[in-house]
Amino acid sequence: MPIALITGANRGIGLALAQELGDRGFHVIVGSRVLQRGEEAVATLRQQGISAETIPIDMEQPETFIYARDRIAALHGVLDVLVNNAGVMLESSGWNVNTTTTISPDVLRRTFQVNFFGPVELTQLLLPLLEKSTSARIVNMSTILASLELHATPGSNTYDTKTFGYNSSKTALNAFTVHLAHALRNTNIKVIGVHPGWVKTELGGEGALITPQQAARPIADLITAPDPPTGVVIFRGKPLPW
Ligand SMILES: NC(=O)c1ccc[n+]([C@@H]2O[C@H](COP(=O)([O-])OP(=O)(O)OC[C@H]3O[C@@H](n4cnc5c(N)ncnc54)[C@H](OP(=O)(O)O)[C@@H]3O)[C@@H](O)[C@H]2O)c1
Repeated sequence: MPIALITGANRGIGLALAQELGDRGFHVIVGSRVLQRGEEAVATLRQQGISAETIPIDMEQPETFIYARDRIAALHGVLDVLVNNAGVMLESSGWNVNTTTTISPDVLRRTFQVNFFGPVELTQLLLPLLEKSTSARIVNMSTILASLELHATPGSNTYDTKTFGYNSSKTALNAFTVHLAHALRNTNIKVIGVHPGWVKTELGGEGALITPQQAARPIADLITAPDPPTGVVIFRGKPLPW
């Protein structure tokens, strides 16, 4: 049974993706900041016949990454899929917002820790386990708001959504996707950035367009594809502009 670790999988898109991959025969490891929330998600998944466990992973507590790595190594000895899904939008959100001149250094730092530094460090630690898979996937959960080209284009549909901390942390995550894909180009590991769409979750808000389940399906399709693209950010099957 292939093994998939999804961070921030206790709710939202992460939980929906855990269900989708579980339905497709994966053993799912639910990364959860708060252990009890992870346990509740695992209980839900198991009721659906999915093989699942939880591991506490807090993107602001890198020592939890080492515990996770050691536990996956001891229990499974391999990791087939890592989804860097946990993410935060800590500044005010909305369409006509630009937080560039007002965001506090603390909020900017915390946003980068969860959305960028954490995923980089966790991925580096888990690479030896991913290298043991015959066909591994690293998925970085990005957003269309990370695209500098769209932000620099008046009239684009993200032009007036300048949540600076969130957007720039995900732009950095996209850089990680490209650089890591290059580093791993001669291996069996594909590195895939994805934009899930605008999704009804706590982060996406009530006005969003699709459900977490609708967002999860095409991401699971990419993960299970025999030869998915690497070093790109995909939305609806096509690469997004950088
Ligand atoms: N929703 C959208 O429209 C949308 C669009 C583009 C991209 N995305 C991206 O998709 C990913 C999932 O978002 P979502 O919409 O599902 O958000 P969500 O419902 O708010 O869920 C966020 C998840 O991240 C976890 N998390 C937050 N801080 C964490 C930390 N320090 N350590 C570990 N986990 C942490 C949360 O755990 P707790 O329950 O413990 O807080 C939760 O499980 C994010 O990376 C987001 O940027 C979402």
